[in-house]
Amino acid sequence: MARLIKENLFLINATDWNRRLFDSLIPLPDGTSYNAYLIKGSEKTVLIDTVDPDMADTLFYHLADVPKIDIIVSLHSEQDHSGSISLVLERYPDAKIVTSPKGKTMLKEHLLIPEEIISVVEDGEELSLGDKTLKFIHFPWVHWPETMLAYLKEDKVLFTCDFLGSHLATTDMYVTDESLVYEAAKRYYAEIMMPFRTIIQKNFPKLDEYEIEIVAPSHGPMYDNPKFIIDAYKDWLSDTPKDCVVIPYISMHGSVGKMIDHLVFALEERGVKAYKFDLTVTDIGKLAITLVDAKTIIVGTPTVLGEPHPLVSYAVKLANLLKPKVQYASVIASYGWGGKTVDKVVEMIPNLKVELIEPVFIQGFPKEEDLKAIEKMADSIKEKHSA
Ligand code: FEO
Repeated sequence: MARLIKENLFLINATDWNRRLFDSLIPLPDGTSYNAYLIKGSEKTVLIDTVDPDMADTLFYHLADVPKIDIIVSLHSEQDHSGSISLVLERYPDAKIVTSPKGKTMLKEHLLIPEEIISVVEDGEELSLGDKTLKFIHFPWVHWPETMLAYLKEDKVLFTCDFLGSHLATTDMYVTDESLVYEAAKRYYAEIMMPFRTIIQKNFPKLDEYEIEIVAPSHGPMYDNPKFIIDAYKDWLSDTPKDCVVIPYISMHGSVGKMIDHLVFALEERGVKAYKFDLTVTDIGKLAITLVDAKTIIVGTPTVLGEPHPLVSYAVKLANLLKPKVQYASVIASYGWGGKTVDKVVEMIPNLKVELIEPVFIQGFPKEEDLKAIEKMADSIKEKHSA
């Protein structure tokens, strides 16, 4: 059975406890959920989004006692929310689809849904369900171009799909442990939303005109204290990084490891927060979380066949794609007999609008003067963070 949120408004959650990877890329240490919502208006019954097709059975379990769906609202065309639309249409063949103009193209191209059953809604347009009204808010790039939100006026519920969501499997309808959800939502923001920070920042004030009692995302629990997640997003979206340094690195024979340890000690002594990530063991999502706030990124790598270590290249390319608001960057690298390691790392981060701090690039194991150069790097970071 779908779970009651308010009168004639229901949560249909398909909780994916065992999923450990999203988009064949993103680690999901806490699983996830795909949330759809059912609104029974006095004239029309609406399903907001569906679930990942792998969990369609759960969707239909919850819909078992629902005889009719008039409209499927598609807020976002990615398959974890739209992938079961065709199955829902088989069960409810008279249902029509409502989506944004770009959503219509996406649904046709990605899901082969016939365009004659798809209607589009413009920004601010309303849809009456009889005694309930949905207002649509175009909110592009959270995180595809077609995304929109829907506001249920009478119940003051904002449906946000991916936006404000978290990858978290739970039986809770609402957030009960804010620190747990804060980390899961920040991980979600870092991996999915951060590349679109500036456009989200621009659209974020659109929320100000709505009185919101409940935020209903399509991943993770709902928020009955919307201020918690809205304030968190304001902080993450802000242009101001925090006084911290993120240090992803690899060490093959201890040279880079020695320099990275020395840097962490030096930063500690200068009162600068640092996060060190050995890329052979780190959860790449944790690295992404720390990049949300970081002011500086220092990449540590040995030289492998003239290039940075492949695991370092992967992490650096990912950081470049995620476009964190870091302001400074540098490289600590070693080589056996030569290479263009530092240049290659710098070439990989064109998206990061950073000032380069003097790198440390040495042959073999660090000597006294190399450790002094690391201390100079820490001085430089301290100075720039204090400015
Ligand atoms: Fe949860 Fe962008 O899909």
